[in-house]
Amino acid sequence: MPVVGFFSKNSNIKLQIEWENRLQTYLPSIKLVPLLSKDAEQATTALLWKPPVERLKDLKNIKGLISLGQGVDHILKSNSIPSYIPIVRIVDPYMAKSMSHWVILSILNFIRDTYGYYEQEKIKKYASRKELNFTSLKIGIYGVGAIGSVVAKDLYNLGFAVEGWSRTKKEIEGINCHYGENSFEKLIKNCDIHVCLLPLTQSTTNIFNKLSVKKMKRGSCFINAGRGDQVVEEDLIESSKSGHITSAILDVYRNEPLPKNHKFWDQKNIRIWPHVAAETNPETAAKQIANAIKCINLGELPPNIIDRNLGY
Ligand code: NDP
Ligand code: OXD
Repeated sequence: MPVVGFFSKNSNIKLQIEWENRLQTYLPSIKLVPLLSKDAEQATTALLWKPPVERLKDLKNIKGLISLGQGVDHILKSNSIPSYIPIVRIVDPYMAKSMSHWVILSILNFIRDTYGYYEQEKIKKYASRKELNFTSLKIGIYGVGAIGSVVAKDLYNLGFAVEGWSRTKKEIEGINCHYGENSFEKLIKNCDIHVCLLPLTQSTTNIFNKLSVKKMKRGSCFINAGRGDQVVEEDLIESSKSGHITSAILDVYRNEPLPKNHKFWDQKNIRIWPHVAAETNPETAAKQIANAIKCINLGELPPNIIDRNLGY
């Protein structure tokens, strides 16, 4: 019987039971135990979202770690995981579509000034507001991997001009793709709407800072669903205050949950979402996780193992 150590949302037991039930469809004898329990020391795999990484050192029987999200930065915070232990991530088309819906929602809200209309509604004001011409706006997608490529294609199909940025060369129909450090500036300078869907690595930490934000066109919209540490938050606040960034829509933060005294809450043109742009869906992700557990227990390499050197 495969025993799996589980940690998500502080070992939320309801969530653990939901995952166990879903996984039992594919692995009937599987047992999930809280990562912090004594039982977890028998576990051969662990299913993790933001675990207390020091606990991983105690799990002497572990043969593989599986991220309960598409990002793995929360696991790589521990630099004591032996290199022979594979770290697997979810790659779920459902999540890519879900993210695409959130990005589209954010962009349309910006273009149509939805929040301006909400304000008018409060004072019973019936008047049209300025609508941006979507054919003259260029959207930059930073990170065109499993998620970003779907977002880029969906936006293109809605009639937007889309530019993509990745580490290695990409060809995506309809998308003007750029790659490598040197082309980052091209998107920064040319686009009106900037969408960050990058994984958090050494190279992407603080990538949106005073310097890069300053190079964006005045009136730009900035959307972040990558990771909070990719943004120097003080710099974003400054540029939002000055109006250089007209609107920022954020789903991720350096500290989550976003502290109640954080300045983002007071900035009218910064919209706050609580890390829900594309939530992991146990219903759609269980099959691939069960397969990963099966492979790890058989000593085989499952799909979607991350590259430790790259950090994603
Ligand atoms: P992928 O690994 O599939 O894609 C990552 C993309 O980023 C790739 O195109 C990659 O380039 C590019 N990239 C990585 N490093 C660099 C760099 N230094 N310079 C330029 N491009 C770079 O990841 P996913 O699409 O699955 O997920 C991306 C991230 O989205 C996750 O890591 C997570 O942080 C975030 N996320 C957020 C969610 C939310 O709800 N807010 C939900 C799910 C994910 P290349 O293709 O050349 O490798
Ligand atoms: C993820 C996330 O990485 O939800 O999947 O942020």
